[in-house]
Amino acid sequence: MPLTDNAAGTVVAVTGGAGFIGSHTVDRLLTAGARVIVIDDFSTGSRDNLAQWQHEPRLRVIEAGVADGVFAPLAASYFGPVTHVIHLAAQTSVVYSVDNPLADIRVNLGGTAHVLEYSRYNGVRKVVFASSSAVYSDDVPFPTAEDAPCAPLSPYGVNKLASESLLRYYGMLHGQRWTALRFFNVYGPRQDPGSPYSGVISIFADRAAADRPLSIYGDGEQTRDFVYVGDVARALVQSCFDDRSDGAVINIGTGAEGTINELARLIIALSDSRSTVGHAPPRPGENRRSVADVRRARDLLGFVADTGLEDGLAHTLAWTASANPRRR
Ligand SMILES: NC(=O)c1ccc[n+]([C@@H]2O[C@H](COP(=O)([O-])OP(=O)(O)OC[C@H]3O[C@@H](n4cnc5c(N)ncnc54)[C@H](O)[C@@H]3O)[C@@H](O)[C@H]2O)c1
Repeated sequence: MPLTDNAAGTVVAVTGGAGFIGSHTVDRLLTAGARVIVIDDFSTGSRDNLAQWQHEPRLRVIEAGVADGVFAPLAASYFGPVTHVIHLAAQTSVVYSVDNPLADIRVNLGGTAHVLEYSRYNGVRKVVFASSSAVYSDDVPFPTAEDAPCAPLSPYGVNKLASESLLRYYGMLHGQRWTALRFFNVYGPRQDPGSPYSGVISIFADRAAADRPLSIYGDGEQTRDFVYVGDVARALVQSCFDDRSDGAVINIGTGAEGTINELARLIIALSDSRSTVGHAPPRPGENRRSVADVRRARDLLGFVADTGLEDGLAHTLAWTASANPRRR
């Protein structure tokens, strides 16, 4: 069924909607005809990510923290009953969570609990949650399917897994419909390269644009499954309106793995950069491989991440260049 048929007449709350993945999700929802309420505390997100919609009457942006509850912010939205919630707001750094486990619990598990309590009392039709490949143990088969062992190595992963359990519980006890998407390494325009916790592609793209050296931890032969943000936004929106994914945990990746060395070479070539590549000591605890088994996404959502790495990188590098016009 075309997306527009499903989204018209819906009111979708997107927590973290001013962030990287959130703003692409908002783009997709508004284009599909939904009314959208963004709740964001702007801790890492930015109003700039939604500037293209500043005169759009079907968008409301509310500054609020999900760990303080979402009843009051959503009551002020004027759009009538919220039909769906896409819950993306989170403290997103694994490293930060190791140093600050209580803060991670408060925002990442507490935020999910607040969203589910709101949904239970307000008849929200479906909650779609951003989980992560960080829930898996470091001893899994590759490609990794959703039924592989989970034993998170960080409070961030623990709270993503606990959030999935909370969704399952609300589904069983209150009949709440839900889907949890386990994202692998998401990249694309609007990913902030400025934080020490940023994704490798945004950092490499930013440095390549300025001809600065790229630093790879370890030998660079570790692999990752890089999935383009436009594909991830499509999976999120589709999960809202497709009941085949109800009650399911679903990997969102490409099913292909690439090494960090290959990635660095590709970014330098595509951006026509004079950057050199160096190697720093490996980071303790870093996984050697990461790649999604994507069969469930295909079977339950009909979803295939179809943006190739070169195309996705080209979009990302173009955005990096336009965001930093004085760099070259
Ligand atoms: N980027 C990835 O590779 C990746 C991988 C796996 C999972 N995820 C998950 O996807 C979601 C979105 O991540 P992203 O990469 O877009 O990061 P992001 O930092 O760009 O987005 C997070 C958004 O949430 C907001 N936020 C943070 N804490 C909040 C709070 N307490 N209340 C309200 N808003 C708050 C931030 O301001 C930001 O706009 C997160 O849940 C993240 O854990 C991302």
